[in-house]
Amino acid sequence: VHKIGVLTSGGDSPGMNAAIRAVVRTGLYHNMEVFGIMRGYQGMIDDDIVPMHSRSVANIIQRGGTILKTARSKDFYTPEGRKKAYDNLKKHGIDGLVVIGGDGSFRGAQKFSNEFDIPCIGLPGTIDKDIAGSDFTIGFDTAVNTAIEAIDKIRDTADAHDRLFIIEVMGRDAGYIALHSGIATGAEHILIPETKTDIEAVVDSLEEKERRKKLVNMIVVAEGDETGGANEVLSIIKKRLPHLDTRVCILGHIQRGGSPSCLDRLIASRLGYAAVDCLLEGKHNIMIGIMNNKLHFTALDKAVKAKQRISEEWMKIVKILAS
Ligand code: F6P
Repeated sequence: VHKIGVLTSGGDSPGMNAAIRAVVRTGLYHNMEVFGIMRGYQGMIDDDIVPMHSRSVANIIQRGGTILKTARSKDFYTPEGRKKAYDNLKKHGIDGLVVIGGDGSFRGAQKFSNEFDIPCIGLPGTIDKDIAGSDFTIGFDTAVNTAIEAIDKIRDTADAHDRLFIIEVMGRDAGYIALHSGIATGAEHILIPETKTDIEAVVDSLEEKERRKKLVNMIVVAEGDETGGANEVLSIIKKRLPHLDTRVCILGHIQRGGSPSCLDRLIASRLGYAAVDCLLEGKHNIMIGIMNNKLHFTALDKAVKAKQRISEEWMKIVKILAS
C-alpha cells in the first residue's frame, strides 16, 4: 500500500479530526501519499479527493466536526455508484482506505471491498457507542460530557422551581449516552432501549417521592427508548400526575459538537496511527477498536451495531443512589 485515502462518513463525532490528523501524519511518516476524501463515500463518487500534507491537518486536533465533511451517501448503495468510486480511487492510484464512521459506514466499506480489491480499515466514530468490538467510540466521551454539563444546568433551574424535568438524549437505538449521563448527574430515572421500561413504576415512584416532599426530579430518556422519547413520557405523566410542574428538554445536536475531550483525542490518535500500521501489514476489512485498553480487531461485517447488554447492576445502582 503506497497511497491511502481517508474519509469520515455518517453522523460526525468530536475527535474525528484528531483521527484524520493521526492517519495523515502516520501515513506521511511511512512515506505514503495520503488523500482526503470529502463528504464520505459521496466524495469518492464525485471525485472530490484532495492530497493531504502535514500542514493540512495542523490546528485541528482540538476541533469538533470533521474537516473532510461527512455525508450519508445514497449513491454508494448502488453498484454503479461503487464502481464510479472505485474508478476514481484507481485514477489517483489509491490502494488503501481508512473509513471513520459508524456501522452504516462499515457496511458500505465491507460491500465495497468485497467487490473491488481495496483494503479498508474502519475506525469507530460515533457518539452513540453502539459498535460491537470496542469499549469506546470516538466522540462518545465528549458527547456524554456535553450532556452532563447541560443536565447539571437543568438541575439548577429544576431545583429553583421544584420541577420535574424529562431530558431526552441522543443515541439512536442505544442507551449509553442516557445511562452514563443519567448516572453522572444523579437522575432519578433513566429510560433506555436495552432494558424494559416500566413507565407505570416510574409514575408510582414519582408519586411516592411527592409524598416525601421530594419535588425535584430528573428523568433522562434515550431517544430510542420504547416509550418514544421525552414528549411521550411527558404526556403519560401529565395524565397521571397533572399537578406536577413538569418540563421537557431535548438536548439534540449540541451533543454532536464541541471540542473533543482528552479521552476522545487519545483514542482517535491511537486508532488513526494503528489504521496505517494495519494497512502496511496487509490487514484488510477490519475495524480497529479498543478493548481492555488493548487494540482489538473485528471483521468489518461483525462490527455492526448489536444491542449490547447493559448490566442489571447499573440499573440497581441508579435506583439506590437516586432514592
Ligand atoms: O448516530 C449519531 C446520531 O447523532 C444519533 O444519536 C441520532 O439519532 C442521529 O445521529 C441524528 O441524525 P441526524 O444528524 O441526521 O439528525
